[in-house]
Amino acid sequence: MDYQQILDNIYRKVQPLVGVGQQADYIPALAMVDPDQMGMSLETLEGERFAVGDSETRFSIQSISKVFALAMALSIEGEDLWRRVGREPSGSTFNSMVLLEVEHGKPRNPFINAGAIVVADLLLERLNNPDRDYIHFVRRLAGNDSIAYNPIVAESERSQGYLNAAIANLLKYHHNINGDIEQVLKFYFLMCSVEMSCGELAHAFLAFADHRRPFSYNGINLTSSQVKRMNAIMQTCGFYDEAGEFSYLVGLPGKSGVGGGIAAFCPQRYGVAVWSPRLNKKGNSVIGMKALELLTTDTEESIF
Ligand code: DON
Repeated sequence: MDYQQILDNIYRKVQPLVGVGQQADYIPALAMVDPDQMGMSLETLEGERFAVGDSETRFSIQSISKVFALAMALSIEGEDLWRRVGREPSGSTFNSMVLLEVEHGKPRNPFINAGAIVVADLLLERLNNPDRDYIHFVRRLAGNDSIAYNPIVAESERSQGYLNAAIANLLKYHHNINGDIEQVLKFYFLMCSVEMSCGELAHAFLAFADHRRPFSYNGINLTSSQVKRMNAIMQTCGFYDEAGEFSYLVGLPGKSGVGGGIAAFCPQRYGVAVWSPRLNKKGNSVIGMKALELLTTDTEESIF
C-alpha cells in the first residue's frame, strides 16, 4: 500500500474545503489559531510513518484527551467504572445536560463532557499526582517527552466554562462527583489543554490498533479485553451526535476534539491523525472527516 501517495492525493482533494466551517471560539484561546492549517499523519504497526501538510504542528487536543483519561480510569478502576458512567452513545451534543438530568446524574458515556468530568474526578481521587501522572502517560504513549499542557488554554476555558460548571454541579448533586467541583473542573480543563501534533497522535493511537499487543505505559496497564472494549466505545461514541455519520463515512474507531483534531486507527494496520481547525455544526473537523473518508475509500481498509 502506497500510503504516502494516498495522503498526497487526499491533501490535494481536500483543498476545496479550505475556508469551510468555523473554528471553535467558545474557548477564547482557540479562536486565535490560524484556522486554515491542515496536517495528517499515518503510522503503521510496523513503524513506517507518512505525513502531509502541518503534521508536526502541535494543536489543542481537547476531547481527544478523553481517550487517554478513559484508558487510565479503566486500568485503575476496571469494570467498577461502569457504575458511574454508561457506555451508550448519547445522540446529543458533547456538552448537553438533557440526558444527564433525566438519567439522574449518570453520564451516557465517558466521551461526552459529563462522562469525562466523572473520569477526571476518579483520577483525581485515585492518582498520587494526577497532573504529572496524566501527562507522563500521554508522553509515553506518544513517545515524546516534550508533550505538555497549555495552561493558558486551560485557564481560558475555565474563565468561560459555565456550561461544564453546570454539568459538574448536576453530577455533584447526584453524588457522582466525590471531589471539589472547582478542582475537578480545573483538572478536566488541563487534560483538554494538552498540545500534540498529528504525528504524535497517530503514534499514540497505535496502542489501540492491536489489542493483542501488551498495553503497558508508565504503570497504566490494560488487558487485551479492556483495549477491545475501549475501541468499541470509540467506535460508538467517539464523535458525539455524529458517531453514526462518522461510522458510515469513515468506518474507523476514533475520537475528535474541538481543536480540530481527529485521531483514529485501523485495527491491525495503522494509527492516523488529522487536524484542521474549522469545524462542522457537530463540532468535528470538516477537512478531518473528509480526509479520513477519502483514506478508507482509497485504501479499501476499514473495520467494515
Ligand atoms: O469541555 C469542552 O467543551 C472542551 N474542553 C472539549 C470539548 C471537545 O473537544 C468536544 N469535541 N468535539
